[in-house]
Amino acid sequence: MMSIKTVNALSHYTDWTVGHVHSGALGWVGLVTMGSMYYLIPRLFGQKQMYSMKAVEVHFWTATIGIVIYIAAMWIAGVMQGLMWRAINPDGTLTYTFVESVKATFPFYVLRLLGGLLYLGGMLVMLWNVIMTAKAGRVPSITIPAAAAHA
Ligand code: HEM
Ligand code: HEM
Repeated sequence: MMSIKTVNALSHYTDWTVGHVHSGALGWVGLVTMGSMYYLIPRLFGQKQMYSMKAVEVHFWTATIGIVIYIAAMWIAGVMQGLMWRAINPDGTLTYTFVESVKATFPFYVLRLLGGLLYLGGMLVMLWNVIMTAKAGRVPSITIPAAAAHA
């Protein structure tokens, strides 16, 4: 959407971009990183899976709901900011001052905070799960193949 010129004319400089960034940052970069850690960490401690798979599921949903709240809030805020900044009176003056647009955005920032706290909460659940997995860890007994003898 933002790659379309007429849409970008409205969205540029607004929180729409910030919402877009975080759908990639929290959704793609964040979740892929966590997923790979959930795969690697138990293996590092000689386990088959994390201490609590239920907690992994809880983490997935808190993160997902947090992201949706974050990006939905920024998307609505972005469209609102874009419309407020371009609104003009019949005599050509601006309808809203910049500060008025910041004030109008405040409730959406509170929503973003809520989304961010959910996302952070999920990370804390992960921290607990990692500690518990490490505590239950044992040294895996793996036969190390002998190095090939040099001729
Ligand atoms: C088909 C997929 C995508 C399209 C078409 C797209 C398009 C765009 C466009 C047009 C902008 C510029 C908005 C503006 O400045 O007005 C933008 C900004 C940005 N995008 Fe994407 N994007 C895509 C996927 C992603 C993904 C997956 C990520 C992150 C993992 C990402 C990260 C960013 C960031 C960080 C910015 C802001 C850069 C800045 O600070 O100015 N984008 N994107
Ligand atoms: C819950 C976690 C996070 C919260 C609450 C958060 C919050 C914020 C806030 C408030 C801004 C400033 C936006 C503005 O200019 O008004 C920002 C910018 C940014 N954040 Fe995050 N962030 C989080 C996680 C991340 C992660 C994990 C990444 C990258 C993997 C990331 C990448 C960025 C980028 C690229 C920008 C610049 C956006 C732009 O101006 O185009 N953030 N973030």
